[in-house]
Amino acid sequence: MIRVNDIDPASLPQIAVRPATARDHGVVLDLLTSLDLDYPGRDLALFYVGETDGEVVAIAELRRLGSRRLLSCVGVRSDLQRRGVGRRFVSALLDGATDDVYLFTVAPAFFRHLGFTPAVPPEGIGRRAIYGCRDCTPDRCVCLVRRADASVARAV
Ligand SMILES: CC(C)(COP(=O)(O)OP(=O)(O)OC[C@H]1O[C@@H](n2cnc3c(N)ncnc32)[C@H](O)[C@@H]1OP(=O)(O)O)[C@@H](O)C(=O)NCCC(=O)NCCS
Repeated sequence: MIRVNDIDPASLPQIAVRPATARDHGVVLDLLTSLDLDYPGRDLALFYVGETDGEVVAIAELRRLGSRRLLSCVGVRSDLQRRGVGRRFVSALLDGATDDVYLFTVAPAFFRHLGFTPAVPPEGIGRRAIYGCRDCTPDRCVCLVRRADASVARAV
């Protein structure tokens, strides 16, 4: 198992991104639970994983909504956070994306590093309708977009 000392921020290993398969679902569910990212409408078929040395270290759900995408459930294994894994993972996941990518997040500073900017949620992308949050907190959970033509910070 990869441990925190194996991840040297000065020489980070590559994070390979691929769609999650049924074999990954256990680990995806564990991360969703432990990072408190799960929501009623999440769809395991829409998940991607980031792996290094064959181990899943990051997850995200990427959903198509008409001509747009919605990014949700971005998470990095808790013992490997704040070492550049998330930045590399999201950069690789969205590399070459040709649609605008929206998300609602409580960690906007992280996503600003990746080319996301504040946005008004477009029609059809409503946080309550999608996430079913009972205690909606728009002041904490902000909407951001990464435009298809935005240059994404590349950390790899
Ligand atoms: C948020 C998360 C995905 C970031 O991944 P990470 O691997 O820890 O982040 P990185 O090390 O790649 O950080 C990249 C930059 O974002 C910053 N950053 C990371 N997490 C942050 C957070 N929660 N809030 C603000 N800034 C953050 C880092 O300080 C770093 O900035 P720097 O380069 O100026 O030092 C990860 O911490 C996580 O899984 N958190 C719990 C789940 C969560 O809150 N997900 C987001 C919900 S939408």
